[in-house]
Amino acid sequence: MINGFDIAPPLLTFVPYSPTMYRTHTCGELRLAHVGTEVTLSGWVQRNRDLGGMTFVDLRDRYGITQLSFNLEARPELTEQARKLGREFVLQVSGTVTERESKNPGMPTGDIEIRVTQLHILNASETPPFTIEEQSDGGDELRMKYRYLDLRRPSLQRQLMLRHNTAQAVREYLNSARFMEIETPFLIRSTPEGARDFVVPSRMQAGQFYALPQSPQTFKQLLMVSGYDRYYQIVRCFRDEDLRSDRQPEFTQIDCEMAFVDREDVIATFEGLLRHVFKQVKGIELPEFLRLSYDEAMERYGSDKPDLRFGMEIHDLTPLTRNEAFPVFEQAESVQAICIPGAAEWSRKQLDTWTDWVKRPQIGAQGMVWVKYAADGTLKSSVDKFYSESELQRWSSALSAQPNSLILVLSGSTTKVQKQLGTLRLAIADELGLRPNDTFCPLWVLDFPMFEFDEEQGRWFAMHHPFTSPYGADYEELRENPGAVRANAYDLVLNGSEIAGGSIRIHNREIQQTVFALLGLSAEEAEQQFGFLLNAFRYGAPPHGGIAFGFDRLCSILAGLDSIRDVIAFPKNNAGRDLMIDAPAEIDAQQWKELNLKPAK
Ligand code: AMO
Repeated sequence: MINGFDIAPPLLTFVPYSPTMYRTHTCGELRLAHVGTEVTLSGWVQRNRDLGGMTFVDLRDRYGITQLSFNLEARPELTEQARKLGREFVLQVSGTVTERESKNPGMPTGDIEIRVTQLHILNASETPPFTIEEQSDGGDELRMKYRYLDLRRPSLQRQLMLRHNTAQAVREYLNSARFMEIETPFLIRSTPEGARDFVVPSRMQAGQFYALPQSPQTFKQLLMVSGYDRYYQIVRCFRDEDLRSDRQPEFTQIDCEMAFVDREDVIATFEGLLRHVFKQVKGIELPEFLRLSYDEAMERYGSDKPDLRFGMEIHDLTPLTRNEAFPVFEQAESVQAICIPGAAEWSRKQLDTWTDWVKRPQIGAQGMVWVKYAADGTLKSSVDKFYSESELQRWSSALSAQPNSLILVLSGSTTKVQKQLGTLRLAIADELGLRPNDTFCPLWVLDFPMFEFDEEQGRWFAMHHPFTSPYGADYEELRENPGAVRANAYDLVLNGSEIAGGSIRIHNREIQQTVFALLGLSAEEAEQQFGFLLNAFRYGAPPHGGIAFGFDRLCSILAGLDSIRDVIAFPKNNAGRDLMIDAPAEIDAQQWKELNLKPAK
């Protein structure tokens, strides 16, 4: 039982590999117990070593590597043929499993080899552009171009296997909890809210366009109106946004929705899902899921997705640093600091490097003040001229600093300083190795502001999306003080990465209309873009809420990797290109015509 749900036994238990016409076993399964057996294997040549009298070939498939041996004296013709085998040739070999003279304890099949009696070359291979081994010599671009070869490498095969196992565990849990997997369309209509859409021209409706979904949000809500009270889908989503290591233009969500639930029901259900996945895929019991409000997360960690694997929390020093002699702090809206344990010995050069780091435009700090709290209890700082030792003492007490630590202080507008210290905190933790990829600290971030005001565009934006329900706010508050309204939304954060986000939704037509109006949509625009949803709300929409996990992000964290690319079979590069198929690409004149499109001048 997990979380009240009976988890059905896994649908698939591995049965022994069933032979085909090409092989009796895989390259990963033969052991000493098989010695004496006649076997047939098929696979790719990983390496070929010619030692004169003996030739050894490593044969690889996705299950492992098995050594083949050829004896020149016993089988001269076969051995001559083996000597000529190049990397990545595809072979079928038959022979006898034999105990090896020199065993390789580093390989599961390292105790045996196959004395080959028959060799068929199923296909030759040109020399591959990089070596297909655990540590490849190929650069990023080259490996992306030949992704089908890179995917032969054991590390990528393990990563895709982990992804497969994760999807199985997700389905296992959700199916047991009576969720139904339902597909929603990929050709939908474009809406302005959120990221940019990828659009698809319609041939039959000249001048009109579909959009690819950024998520199935409105469809899953409609399924709730239709009475499918627990829905999920492991589904591709498309967003035309700038890319980073944790963002791809097409990515996969575990998209879920439930009817007749409140926030705590959704949280309990999906805490259960994550626990189940970690147990099944990694054999790990996750620790307690902590909770922070958005405000608290920003104040203490300078981020709405804090990494809790280490401390170094942000503390407010504003009242303690007011000092006319030091106008930088005197005039700042806010002065805040973090404390790095064990760092009192950092050199001047290190401090200068970090000062330059925070002054880069990406961070944007004006400067940085440091205080060294030495092991002997003395305090020394870059502002000794302005602050006495007893004042510095008060700063260090406010930070609960221990001897042999370093305090770094930034000043400016409160939200900016929080974000700057939040980024600095992560960078220093990376440098100090405080973010191990085998420790997992999950947390829920709650009570987000419902709206954010964009100064440049002079209008409110939904912090999650416009379908999120406000938290107990009435119409008046929504209209009069939108900035103060909290959203009934929740993000699930794991090790500094937002792995899921969701909310209780609006199911009342009037409230939905009020929110659209606040976001600057006229009644006509709202009707035009979301009329189907507003209409559906006329016919008995149940209370509902849901969540979507970033499946690629979840897999990359499970695999201990930084980039989601490494858990996607055919990813795009940072410019959004698929280097293998060379997409996007131009279309021919006939297609332009058929689609009623004209090239931009
Ligand atoms: P949201 O936009 O927060 O919510 O997306 C849900 C999760 O998807 C992942 N994610 C991405 N992963 C890779 N590449 C991207 N470009 C990318 N963008 C998002 C993140 C994120 O937490 N419909 C709502 C969910 C809901 O309210 O139920 C939605 O899409 O891990």
